[in-house]
Amino acid sequence: MMHSSPYALGFTTLDHEVDHVPLTVTGALPGWLAGSLIRTGPARFEVGEQAYVHWFDGLAMLHAFAFHSGLASYSNRFIHSKSWCEAEENGRIVRGEFMTDPCRTIFGRVMALFDPKTTDNANVNVAMLGERIVALTETPMPIRFDPHTLETQGHLAFGKAVKGQISTAHPHTDGMLGYSYVIKMGRKSAYRLFVDEGGRQRVLAELPVDQPSYMHSFGMSERHLILTEFPLRVNPLRLALSGQPFITNYRWQPEHGTIFSVIDRTSGAVVARAKAPSCFAFHHVNAFEESGVVHVDFLAYPDAGVIDRLRLDRLRAGTPSNAVSTLTRFSIPLDAAGSETLVAVEGKGLCGTPFELPRIDYLRRAGRRHTCVWGVGQSEPASFLDTIVKAELADAIPVVRRWHEDGCYAGEPVFVARPDGDAEDDGILLSVVLDARAHTSFLLVLDAATLTERARAAVPHHIPFGFHGNHFPDVNQ
Ligand SMILES: [Fe+2]
Repeated sequence: MMHSSPYALGFTTLDHEVDHVPLTVTGALPGWLAGSLIRTGPARFEVGEQAYVHWFDGLAMLHAFAFHSGLASYSNRFIHSKSWCEAEENGRIVRGEFMTDPCRTIFGRVMALFDPKTTDNANVNVAMLGERIVALTETPMPIRFDPHTLETQGHLAFGKAVKGQISTAHPHTDGMLGYSYVIKMGRKSAYRLFVDEGGRQRVLAELPVDQPSYMHSFGMSERHLILTEFPLRVNPLRLALSGQPFITNYRWQPEHGTIFSVIDRTSGAVVARAKAPSCFAFHHVNAFEESGVVHVDFLAYPDAGVIDRLRLDRLRAGTPSNAVSTLTRFSIPLDAAGSETLVAVEGKGLCGTPFELPRIDYLRRAGRRHTCVWGVGQSEPASFLDTIVKAELADAIPVVRRWHEDGCYAGEPVFVARPDGDAEDDGILLSVVLDARAHTSFLLVLDAATLTERARAAVPHHIPFGFHGNHFPDVNQ
């Protein structure tokens, strides 16, 4: 295998697991920082003679950084999902992933229809789903684990009414109630949005659809959920019968445009629908309501080409991925013609600096107007995600700040608010950074307002590029 890009180490298998290793800290961690940052991401890219195809396919590993009195420790452990266990037992890939399918015989394909081996390889996010911390991928099989030992405990079962084959790894919470959705694929397909009340899920709204979209996240404002259908759509029959990897069954159909459905969080009623020109996004940033308008912000790509650019062969070869996109706001009137009419809307770019893996001060700003967004950008077009970016949106002309160091590739910056702090950016950012020259990774701690470095803590090995995680203040080691 030819590894030629300077950041190929970030797409190289890590098999080494450690348990509560104390980390050497350079600089000073804030004395108030406690709890744990727990993240997930792919860490094994081969099984026996077989290799996964896409960045989103690799077998999931949890990484936890625990903080106490200015000290930090690190643990990492593979998630013992069904995908992982069956691969271990058989020495080959057993369950299909985002862009990888195990070689199946015709007989195997037909059998798969009756006994679908859905992946539970939770390599996308670690988040609260209702009251539980779970690891998530885009199927309704969240993984429960012990947040102290990272030991896998099994699946979090959804309520019977919440049936579907696809879900999202980006649920929402307002601190009391959790919100998410599943997509039921079949002769009659539907989006089923659900609310989690104390661990019990209840279907809030069911939206019938002929050709479901590929959606990675959705929006939540104070009173509404916003489902954004990008024109990357699939014929459910093709998905069931083709025998091809999951995402390759979807087709780009820009003539459909981008469709917004605004759903009342209490009644489940669709209160508004809107149509924007075709675009694609992985990540909603936030949504909020003002003066009868719901504003929906996401990171918009002109099309879905970024999916193919994130294949492992391309990334390892250093082919530019351009996995950054434009922070764009769509403003949907709530008092227009109701849910029957598609109101035409246009997106408005908010910031000239493209980035990805967006974060806000979620605990205080989710569903309300935000003025700070953090994410990761690229220092130059030919590079990979390597720079931490902050966009300040309070003024008409946004202020953009950056952190970058040569040879380093920064991951998603997770905002942790300073206790008793008032300002939206009063806190720190936690980012796992690959130091490609040192062949290791470190946890970077930045001042969230200025992006100046406060501390870094060296990890004993490299950490393959992951996606998402969160800081859990109550998980103390
Ligand atoms: Fe994501």
